[in-house]
Amino acid sequence: MHKMYSIEDARRLARRRLPRMIFEFLDGGADDESTLRSNLEAFDKVTLNPRVMVDVSKRDQATTILGDHVSLPVLLAPTGLNRLFWRDGELAVARAAGKAGTILMVSTASSCSIEEVAGAATGVLWFQLYMWRDRELIALLVDRAQKAGCHVMCVSVDVPIMGKRPRDLRNGMTVPPRLGFWNLLDALRRHGWVRDYLTGQEIIPRNLLGIAQFDNAVSMSAYINKKLINPGATWDNIRWIRELWKGPLAVKGIITAEDALRAVDCGVNGIVVSNHGGRTLDGLPATLDVLPEIVRAVDGRAEVFMDGGIRYGTDVIKAIALGARACLIGRPYLWGLAADGEAGVARVLEIFREEIDRTLAQLGRSKLSDVDSSAVRSRIE
Ligand SMILES: Cc1cc2nc3c(=O)[nH]c(=O)nc-3n(C[C@H](O)[C@H](O)[C@H](O)COP(=O)(O)O)c2cc1C
Repeated sequence: MHKMYSIEDARRLARRRLPRMIFEFLDGGADDESTLRSNLEAFDKVTLNPRVMVDVSKRDQATTILGDHVSLPVLLAPTGLNRLFWRDGELAVARAAGKAGTILMVSTASSCSIEEVAGAATGVLWFQLYMWRDRELIALLVDRAQKAGCHVMCVSVDVPIMGKRPRDLRNGMTVPPRLGFWNLLDALRRHGWVRDYLTGQEIIPRNLLGIAQFDNAVSMSAYINKKLINPGATWDNIRWIRELWKGPLAVKGIITAEDALRAVDCGVNGIVVSNHGGRTLDGLPATLDVLPEIVRAVDGRAEVFMDGGIRYGTDVIKAIALGARACLIGRPYLWGLAADGEAGVARVLEIFREEIDRTLAQLGRSKLSDVDSSAVRSRIE
């Protein structure tokens, strides 16, 4: 294992192992990437408020998320096509998540099918659903997720059409990825990745195999826009899924109090405050900045989670202090995956666990329920 002491180390190692086209797909955001930067900067504007001389000899960061026990308040956000980053992709992620005692949200666009992931998983899985055009396809995926044992259905509502990611366009990123001349030249320096790419399974969204056509490489967002995503979807579709899915339902991609209330009215149990890690619409507010008003509006009628820019244990604690029940991470675990497969994901989760534990101790709080708004100072503008 390479030296990985911080999430930034994981990113550095991922950059070293991945061809540029793949690293930039992982790392990048929409347009000018200002949403992506805002997510990160928001954490610097909130400072912590410690209490000293408190008995913190026993500490506990376990909690429950929509009824499921987790050993740390960090969940793995849904991300597509994990085989781009490591040979066995989502299977490696699922193993690491189960061992760490946390939840993996399997993306509709996963490169291993939901059944394959469920076969490798030892922990709790959620399924993330996109609002496809075809209701029969949605019903089929919902049924498969249920049979695979997923506990929660999480509908991503923030992609009426795909974002524009200039780095992917410039690099000629396609699904499945095709190594043109320049990409090949760059990839040749990344032996480990190229070996996996050449000998591994074709990297496509396997849940859609036999449903969608993948005969040739097309620009990824063009494909999704044209064939899959439903820009006509409304809250009626969420109400329909509410009837279809018997377990807890969450929506991901809420960043206003008004939309959070609409979601609650549709009977959702969980709200993920998210701007898709800055990968869809540029110019959105940082998720940490809108979290408190959403928590206030929801007023306990649903559990509120957040993602976007979580890179340190202190970030997780700040989000919890501002009302989140737990945080999701996207890029951090993918960097771990790209750096060292299952061990890399495990290490990333371990880094978060250690940092959260240390932060609790140094803040004078022994458990997550002690982390309320008194744990942060007012923001520095
Ligand atoms: C490579 C990549 C693929 C993603 N794929 C999906 C997806 O298929 N479905 C989804 O709801 N969100 C997807 N996301 C967004 C994440 O679920 C999450 O909202 C975001 O990564 C959180 O921000 P962070 O990366 O700063 O932690 C993806 C993010 C990345 C980086």
